[in-house]
Amino acid sequence: MSYFLGIDIGTGGARSLVIDEQGRLLGSASSEYPLLTPKPLWAEQHPQDWWQGVLRCLPDACRKAGISPSGISAVGLSGQMHGAVFLDEKDAVIRPAILWCDQRTADECDEITERAGAQAVHRITLNRVLTGFQAPKAVWLKNNEPEAHRRIRKLLLPKDYIRFKLTGAYATEVSDASGTSLLNVVERKWSPEMMEAAFVEESWLPECFESVEVSATVSREGAQATGLREGTPVVGGGGDQAAGGIGSGVVDTGLVSTSLGTSGVVFAYADKPFVDPLLRTHTFCHAVPGKWHAMGVVISAGGSLRWYRDTFCEEEKRLALQQNKDAYDLILQAAEDIAPGCEGLFYLPYLSGERTPYPDPFARGVFFGATLSHTRAHFSRAVLEGVSFALKDSFEILNSIGVDAQQVRVMGGGARSGFWRQLLADVVGRTHVTLNVEEGAAFGVALLAGVSQRAWSSVQEACSATLTTHQSCESDSTRTLAYKPLHRFYQSLYSAMKERFSALAELQ
Ligand code: XUL
Repeated sequence: MSYFLGIDIGTGGARSLVIDEQGRLLGSASSEYPLLTPKPLWAEQHPQDWWQGVLRCLPDACRKAGISPSGISAVGLSGQMHGAVFLDEKDAVIRPAILWCDQRTADECDEITERAGAQAVHRITLNRVLTGFQAPKAVWLKNNEPEAHRRIRKLLLPKDYIRFKLTGAYATEVSDASGTSLLNVVERKWSPEMMEAAFVEESWLPECFESVEVSATVSREGAQATGLREGTPVVGGGGDQAAGGIGSGVVDTGLVSTSLGTSGVVFAYADKPFVDPLLRTHTFCHAVPGKWHAMGVVISAGGSLRWYRDTFCEEEKRLALQQNKDAYDLILQAAEDIAPGCEGLFYLPYLSGERTPYPDPFARGVFFGATLSHTRAHFSRAVLEGVSFALKDSFEILNSIGVDAQQVRVMGGGARSGFWRQLLADVVGRTHVTLNVEEGAAFGVALLAGVSQRAWSSVQEACSATLTTHQSCESDSTRTLAYKPLHRFYQSLYSAMKERFSALAELQ
């Protein structure tokens, strides 16, 4: 029997899981690490914390699976996208990694776009240069920490730092590389024009593979640290969204998923690299060889609810502890009793700026319409509705470029709530289904590891052999109709406040 390991370097923590060659989930474990926010709009993490997280959860997952790490046949890596890990000539980390949800680089995005020319940026990368992406972070370092910039010898994405620790190799794969602004997303290779525009030297960039290809093997040091066998193949893997696309079987035309993690992503498979002419959604390489995907990204989806719980819900947290429950369950339960529309209370989830539909680093979170009659339960429901409206924005854009799925596969922490799934189904007006496996990205890259070892003949076969629909939420047409004007009103709030957001940024 062969066993495959999937590792996901999330924003909240690392996750490892083990599957067998029939795709059965044998064991999984996770380990949290801190998110550093040294200034408003900044988000950083210590790469060493990711590695320590892996060293904790990898053996745990294997133990739960009842096998030794040395029994693993191949490893797949996934992780939060876009982050910048800077290594010096001794492979030491130069400064904390700057993450996907960090918004400090608005000027640097303009600088790269001006140097390359907007048309070239769009033709080559199929996207705008956005504050979350990797290249502007390297330019920010040049502009703000020039000493550190001078020391850069390697520029890695989060999961690829873990690959480096496991194998000693500098390697990445096309799906994650798509989110750097340095990849030619049509040709699936690094772009010399974009490197030049971002002052990035070719020697800094890791070798770029397709996601199912073996990128390197576990080194002696990697084996000593983890218990994996020296020589174990490590496949390219995928950025967490593409990997989640595999883990939810979005590997064929017409299939769409929504992931409700810290970010909220509506993800559609694409045979060809089609783009939204206004570039409000991203078009990236898929982890399926030679294919692409389009996606809309809401930066603070589950992140909004977590922020709301931690900022306003001490009472629920205390009660949850007393009753041995989860505070989220209490918050969601109270929200369920409030009527759709929250009696005129709206929430805009732009806590860390936004990407889709507004690529705006200055946008801010807003509660709008509060009156004396609103209770905390109204605010709770407003958060859930606001995030659902934001995801509907992505559906509308994808729809306008030809994506029309009648059924949406929903995954991520938020999808565990039947109430939120139903709310999403009603707002979006589509059936939302869950799958038998809820592990998303880590499961997706474990499947890729299996494909590399011929457990399945293709990514599509791996998905159809292992994934089935579990629960289904039909949308209720009366409620869908009722949400339409509320969604339009929600959209009008950003237009009304756009200028004020920029003015606030200047004020600060
Ligand atoms: C996708 C994105 C996030 C991160 C963190 O473009 O920025 O989903 O990958 O999960």
